[in-house]
Amino acid sequence: MKNVIVTGGAGFIGSNFIRYILNENKEIKVINVDKLTYAGNLENLKGLENNENYVFEKADICDKEKIEEIVKKYDIDTIINFAAESHVDRSIKDPTEFINTNIKGTQNLLAIAKNAWEIGEDTYKEGVRYIQVSTDEVYGSLEKDDPCFTEKTPLSPHSPYSASKASADMLVKAYYDTYKFPVCITRCSNNYGPYQFPEKFIPLIMNNCLKHKNIPVYGDGSNIRDWLFVEDHCEAIYKVTLNGRLGEVYNIGGHNERTNLQIVKKIIAYLHDNVDKEITEDLITFVKDRKGHDKRYGINPEKISKELGWSPKTKFEDGIVKTIEWYLNNQEWLDNVVSGEYENYYKKMYNQ
Ligand code: NAD
Ligand code: TYD
Repeated sequence: MKNVIVTGGAGFIGSNFIRYILNENKEIKVINVDKLTYAGNLENLKGLENNENYVFEKADICDKEKIEEIVKKYDIDTIINFAAESHVDRSIKDPTEFINTNIKGTQNLLAIAKNAWEIGEDTYKEGVRYIQVSTDEVYGSLEKDDPCFTEKTPLSPHSPYSASKASADMLVKAYYDTYKFPVCITRCSNNYGPYQFPEKFIPLIMNNCLKHKNIPVYGDGSNIRDWLFVEDHCEAIYKVTLNGRLGEVYNIGGHNERTNLQIVKKIIAYLHDNVDKEITEDLITFVKDRKGHDKRYGINPEKISKELGWSPKTKFEDGIVKTIEWYLNNQEWLDNVVSGEYENYYKKMYNQ
């Protein structure tokens, strides 16, 4: 791995990954390819502008000419595809961009990389690799007592978002099965940590608490997510990029299942005790449930643990405090990202 494209590097996980990999490996060059949608923010990469090993290229992963040009210009040998429309609620309102970016964009990257790296039939330049960053949501929903998702769990996506991610995964796998194109797929559970856009649950709770606004909890708050600190996800992706077996899927998760109500109460309790006595559970407001709301996600990470020696380093109790403190210390960042388009989005989604 020498010249790496990270797509979607101005988003939540992509920006954390770029910081992580530049710190971990001083021998590589990272080219951040991002379209800068509402979710992409170059402020997430502040401080890296003068890093010699980092370059930003504004581009849409669906743009054939531009991506071809970038792959050639930097002699790319590794592509890690984070770029996506990533919010389930937006996909329910309008799936169009999810099909474009998540499916067609992935296909565009695969076709360009195959063309650039192929040296004969089913053979490719030494050391080249394509990593698809996917999600546990492609497996669908678990009941309370079901065993966790393994890599063998059949795909059964329910939202337009997860259906688009599952389609992309199948295309990536098809490139391996058909052309022996060197790929790996990672499927991670819900991430939390710095730089997450406040349309997602945890930063939305933070933003609303700090502004003494009601916190919309869908349904009765009993839905379960399996939360992983973003840096642990970054380490797992790095390990898969270095040593993952080609054609394989790796589930990533930290055995950390919580109900939404547990999450919201935990954050309120911390803020109440440490920051502002006016932040109380009275802010919790139960609202109409999300359409097709998946009941529970839970990851079995045994494969990545056994094959690549990965396990999460951050306990939830520590990670959530780090996260809360980060948002408290970066309220300017939060205020900047919730101005403009976010306000219109919030009004549309929550009628407030
Ligand atoms: P995000 O929405 O915060 O960031 C997405 C980034 O992709 C943004 O910077 C955006 O500008 C960019 N982008 C969107 N469309 C693009 C296009 N057509 N061309 C180039 N760039 C484009 O998302 P995230 O939460 O950081 O998620 C990153 C990846 O990880 C996604 O593929 C997502 O499916 C996956 N994932 C996310 C989670 C999670 O909890 N957030 C969990 C598992 C997997
Ligand atoms: P989210 O952060 O959107 O991630 P995902 O849907 O991909 O898991 O939501 C996490 C959980 O929180 C999910 O069960 C939906 C719920 N939720 C709310 O109850 N209220 C909200 O305002 C949001 C955004 C999410």
